[in-house]
Amino acid sequence: NTRVLTGITTTGTPHLGNYAGALRPAIEASALPGVDAFYFLADYHALIKADDPVRVSRSRLEIAATWLAAGLDPERVTFYRQSDIPEIPELSWILTCVTPKGLMNRAHAYKASVDQNTEKGVEPDDGVTMGLFSYPVLMAADILMFNANKVPVGRDQIQHLEMARDIAQRFNHTYKGDYFVLPEVVIAEEVATLPGLDGRKMSKSYNNTIPLFEGGAAALRSAVMRIVTDSRQPGEPKEADDSHLYTLFRAFATHEESAEFRAALLAGMGWGEAKQALCDRLERELSEKRERYDELMAKPDEIEDILQAGAAKARKLATPLMERVREAVGLRTLR
Ligand code: TYM
Repeated sequence: NTRVLTGITTTGTPHLGNYAGALRPAIEASALPGVDAFYFLADYHALIKADDPVRVSRSRLEIAATWLAAGLDPERVTFYRQSDIPEIPELSWILTCVTPKGLMNRAHAYKASVDQNTEKGVEPDDGVTMGLFSYPVLMAADILMFNANKVPVGRDQIQHLEMARDIAQRFNHTYKGDYFVLPEVVIAEEVATLPGLDGRKMSKSYNNTIPLFEGGAAALRSAVMRIVTDSRQPGEPKEADDSHLYTLFRAFATHEESAEFRAALLAGMGWGEAKQALCDRLERELSEKRERYDELMAKPDEIEDILQAGAAKARKLATPLMERVREAVGLRTLR
């Protein structure tokens, strides 16, 4: 069987980009024959970006409810919370010890902080924690712990996957054994980067997101109405292919519907009408799921039970793997 694994950092509220770029393809993959799926809440990763305990814990609940409402079947999928698996930070430390610092110096998230600081004229490492710096090692531990073959993610995570492969190879080489499988990145091409309201990548950090379930149909609609469009009038032909409204539409429509929508834009459909059509597509895909989301949010105990059962399943694999790793590096029990 192929092991498919992916995680979402528990900061903020899931948006359409997370849904189309990560959750939806992951849930579809988990239903395929021959697939063992491991999906988790990356709450240790959340601490890198957020130091507000209320926000971190609220976001864990929202993201867990989102996975379940979007159709994740906890009987099929090993669905767990990173912080319930103590073997993950343990493996992360051991991997840290085979990871060259130079490799981490090249990580995009770290380099972006350094560049910003340089622009501002402050110390390059100002405000950079060791958590941010070694973030890719923790992510490698998440993946290597379960010997994942495939990791479906958005484009922004490709470099992290390359680093995970690199770290796995170094460990296997140093300790002379096939301890870790080299994971492959999987990018859903059609929707790899969903644009946000302003056309840039939809991202919490750009403040341009369209909420998935939170706020209900009204919040979704009001966000869609705020999508930036050019000033062409109704009746004037639109540049369909550069319009992010069209990219968003395509992520939620069939090929035929998308072709019709494109033709209508070229024929001069107004942006208002186009936005309405996008809302209709979104509602078709999301309205039932939103109802389930609201039910789940009212029953956190039920979610907690599901996560505990998932952690027990995950640890059945993590415990023996960690034993092998401890043995490999020489941390075995004295007899
Ligand atoms: P995170 O939480 O930032 O994002 C979760 C997933 O959503 C994808 N994504 C998008 N895809 C398409 N269009 C967008 N606009 C968009 N915005 C976000 C991200 O690429 C990601 O796949 N480090 C990871 C979480 C993580 C992880 C892992 C992932 C921790 N350990 C192990 C895979 C395997 C992150 O911060 O993703």
